[in-house]
Amino acid sequence: FNLNQTYKPSFHFQPSKNWMNDPNGPMRYKGLYHIFYQHNPKGAIWSNNSIVWGHSVSKDLVNWFSLQHALTPTKPYDINGCWSGSVTFLSNNRPNILYTGIDKNNHQTQNLAIPKNASDPFLKEWIKSSMNPLIVPTIGNKINATSFRDPTTAWIGDHDGFWRVLVGSQEKGNKGITLLFKSKDFVNWVESKTPFYSAKKIGMMECPDFFPMLINGSIKHVLKISLFDVSHDYYLIGTYDTIKDVFIPEENNNELTRVLRYDYGKFYASKTFYDSVKKRRVLWGWINESSTQEDDVQKGWSGIQAIPRALWLDKLGKQLIQWPIVEIEKLRINPPVKLHSKVLKRGTLLEISGVTAAQADVEISFEVNDLEKAQALNPSWKMDPQHLCTENGSKVKETGLGPFGLLVLASKNMQEYTSIFFKVFRANKKHVVLMCSDQSRSSLNHKNDLTTYGAFVDVNPIYDELSIRTLIDHSVVESFGGQGKTCIASRVYPTLAINDNAHLHVFNNGTVDVKIEKLSAWSMKKAKINEIH
Ligand code: FRU
Repeated sequence: FNLNQTYKPSFHFQPSKNWMNDPNGPMRYKGLYHIFYQHNPKGAIWSNNSIVWGHSVSKDLVNWFSLQHALTPTKPYDINGCWSGSVTFLSNNRPNILYTGIDKNNHQTQNLAIPKNASDPFLKEWIKSSMNPLIVPTIGNKINATSFRDPTTAWIGDHDGFWRVLVGSQEKGNKGITLLFKSKDFVNWVESKTPFYSAKKIGMMECPDFFPMLINGSIKHVLKISLFDVSHDYYLIGTYDTIKDVFIPEENNNELTRVLRYDYGKFYASKTFYDSVKKRRVLWGWINESSTQEDDVQKGWSGIQAIPRALWLDKLGKQLIQWPIVEIEKLRINPPVKLHSKVLKRGTLLEISGVTAAQADVEISFEVNDLEKAQALNPSWKMDPQHLCTENGSKVKETGLGPFGLLVLASKNMQEYTSIFFKVFRANKKHVVLMCSDQSRSSLNHKNDLTTYGAFVDVNPIYDELSIRTLIDHSVVESFGGQGKTCIASRVYPTLAINDNAHLHVFNNGTVDVKIEKLSAWSMKKAKINEIH
């Protein structure tokens, strides 16, 4: 049983070995996609003084070729690490990196690096600006010098032609704050007096990301922040006041008062880029391990990137929709195993055979009737979806509509499985759809983190199909509910349900029959990812 091989994904991005965290500076340049990433070349655990920028390129966002490190700690201003940052194209169309350096006093500084040879599509070598550090934390400020990092992609203001960039921070106390800096020449930066966005009691805002989204011919803006205290990526939809240079989030009037997250499982420090050739915004996010550090050391690696996701606003502009980039579909081995219009009676467990269940792409949609038989939401319940999922685990037979869904990475005798399922509730003549990813039975090794994840899906089961797409990749289960309205990524480490011993099932543990409208399950090919040549 080789930990390294057993759990290594086949089509999720990772370096050939060692530690990886945040995606940095994603872009498309001269026909190639680039991804940089926070990497410790010295081992499988994060390091407080040796983080570099790893660098890979790809023609298709699926197969990746590894290049030399783009940035390594060499200068007094980054000697303790080259931390997260972004790429901005200046008017000459040259990509410029802004990144955080950890200086000799462990203070955080913002720095610039430019390609040594911009005509090289690989952009192998990067030169640090002689003007570095460009921005240092102001002494006597309300900001701690160790909470000042992760510059965004910069943009130009229409009315004054100045560059603008955001830096994540926290004021002493617990106020999360995103700072705005302006510059005429991309080298000399001045802090704006008003923070771009701030919120009380949420702690350090890491890795801000800010971008426009087109909806019905007009523009809304999205601000994403990574909250260090809870390790989740939240986004706000709102407007950008270009005169005051601040972000104003829209009121969230959803009656479930949902806080919007890209993903309700493991997904952090994400960053988008605009793919101008394919006219889409693409999201990268880091999925960390759920195993012990000892296991990570034994595996020799830790951390993967989620499959890049195309991003757009839903019809009403109330939330973002995410879908794996279409290119990943070329790994599907056709034809898929299919089911059509099949009733899934209460209490059914149906095996889907004929796919490599440890390396697969599965799409399923359900039709539900008998909505009056859905369980009533008990007003005394804690309306926290993750909590509801933990209480309504797929193992418990419930009354009502659901749980029904997929059982993935299941061992032959069901000692191990991970379930991704729906449960429909009744609430004041309306219906509430809960989506869960239950890892509690995923591994006989209980040292792994087996937390269950869950979120509501903004669909109406009267009109809408209830659909799930799950990408299964050995130790990764990445699920998209309601055509990308609710996403849950998780990590699992089965000891029996591995490789050819993994099975795939659909199940209905509710007391009401449901119908599978359609199921397609593909075996997936292996991508070429940073293989050593
Ligand atoms: C987020 C983060 C960033 C920082 C980087 C260091 O995961 O903590 O704030 O720049 O990782 O590796």
